[in-house]
Amino acid sequence: MNQDQLKQAVGQAAVDYIKPHLQKDSIIGVGTGSTANCFIDALAELKNDFDGAVASSEATAERLKSHGIPVYDLNSSGTLDFYIDGADETNDHLQLIKGGGGALTREKIVAACAKEFICIADESKWVDLLGTFPLPVEVIPMARSYVARELVALGGDPVYRQGFVTDNGNVILDVHNMSIQSATALEERINNIVGVVTNGLFACRPADVLLMGTADGVKTIK
Ligand code: 5RP
Repeated sequence: MNQDQLKQAVGQAAVDYIKPHLQKDSIIGVGTGSTANCFIDALAELKNDFDGAVASSEATAERLKSHGIPVYDLNSSGTLDFYIDGADETNDHLQLIKGGGGALTREKIVAACAKEFICIADESKWVDLLGTFPLPVEVIPMARSYVARELVALGGDPVYRQGFVTDNGNVILDVHNMSIQSATALEERINNIVGVVTNGLFACRPADVLLMGTADGVKTIK
């Protein structure tokens, strides 16, 4: 199977995973990216079995609506049963780097509201040590240079994602060559820099389940 087929396999696996638990009033949190899109496309077949979804980006909201799945405001949705999303990297603690698509802040918010965070990823995302993928940091625009200097002081090489504005109107710094020995400590340290909205480490609240697409089928890792 190629990477696209592995993404489709984990998207379908996530639908199969949540299907027995769906109720007519269920609202599901949905992530962003090509793997999340595979999940959305597979979820469409169940659209009459649950109420709707909360989207982690404008792009995801549009895709959900294109399938006729209602999209709700998080503030009126309470606690969600599930949040399903892809990742750029995962380690064996199911700590993630996310934000390659720039949706990290809304993704982290929706994930925080979910009882169960299901990560869907092909096996290329599995790493022993997080940090080969540049760590995205969402920043208030006027703080960009200050935050970049602080990230350099932490040992990273931040690169401004040119021409990209997040759904929240902010900018992204992609931090290369960051040594991530303690993902939880670094997540908290970077989030403490004034001007940072959030960073793409999902370690303080890691995924609960990883559905990983491999050549031997989808593996469930908890
Ligand atoms: C978007 C994300 C995505 O989940 C991550 O970039 C993985 O994307 P893809 O499924 O396209 O490989 O965090 O902000």
